[in-house]
Amino acid sequence: MAFLTIDETKCKQDGICAEECPRRIITQADKRFPEIAEADQPYCMTCGHCVAVCPHGALSIAGVNIDDCPIIDKDLALSWGQAEQFLRSRRSIRLFKDRPIDRKTLEQLIAAARYAPTASNAQKLEWTVIEGRDRLEQLSRETINWMERVIEDQPDSSAAFYFRPMVARWATGYDSILRTAHTIVVPSAPKENANGLVDLSIALAYLELAALPLGVGTCWAGLLRGAMLATPSLVESMGLPEGHTWYYPMMIGYPKYKYYRLPERKAPVIHWK
Ligand SMILES: Cc1cc2nc3c(=O)[nH]c(=O)nc-3n(C[C@H](O)[C@H](O)[C@H](O)COP(=O)(O)O)c2cc1C
Repeated sequence: MAFLTIDETKCKQDGICAEECPRRIITQADKRFPEIAEADQPYCMTCGHCVAVCPHGALSIAGVNIDDCPIIDKDLALSWGQAEQFLRSRRSIRLFKDRPIDRKTLEQLIAAARYAPTASNAQKLEWTVIEGRDRLEQLSRETINWMERVIEDQPDSSAAFYFRPMVARWATGYDSILRTAHTIVVPSAPKENANGLVDLSIALAYLELAALPLGVGTCWAGLLRGAMLATPSLVESMGLPEGHTWYYPMMIGYPKYKYYRLPERKAPVIHWK
């Protein structure tokens, strides 16, 4: 298959694909069909913009076949009211039902998260899923151990102040670290991927939004992250891919309770220049 395939019966030579191409490697001379010089092919990031923007459905490019790109369904477009309520109704879930998220649903969510933007369309993310309440309790235990070390080494620090009640609650049987989750996900990307950490955080944000319509809840596991940053053996025990950098673990499961209202947040601070 050619690198750029043009259906000459459909192409109107309107130049939209050439103008849209972020790397400007598609050229279209007057009364000619669009083309990409062989020397420019390695610059293509297979973002699919040329395929998506063509009103005539006239082209495919290596890695993005038009047949794999569904037409946008106008009936599924969100109104502002729907979008606003959707975004406002995401909650950090800390009370999960006592059953793990099923793998099929989790796969569906991870598949949705791949539509998050990645720098240069690198799409280098991989996901490690750690399942089982016993395993998560062990990770929480390790986090409590780390907190106890912080409290001992820096008793007057703000971290120690913040950790003390959590350690006390752990002693009463309440897990403030991974709460009642049965599953965490940890996205990672190859270390050499310069924008990896940003890509990972956006993917997590997509994942938690995608979770909403499936009745799934999430919570960023910041305390576990703190312990991971301070305890290489803890990270090792999690079996993340070799040579990868990770950003944040996220709890995921079915929320125990439903929410009925949308809490307000601070007014935005905007600096117009
Ligand atoms: C980076 C990050 C780390 C977080 N870490 C934790 C955590 O360790 N434990 C927890 O219960 N909530 C954690 N949260 C959830 C926040 O407390 C929560 O987003 C905030 O209170 C607002 O509530 P909402 O997410 O329901 O709107 C974290 C959130 C973010 C974005």
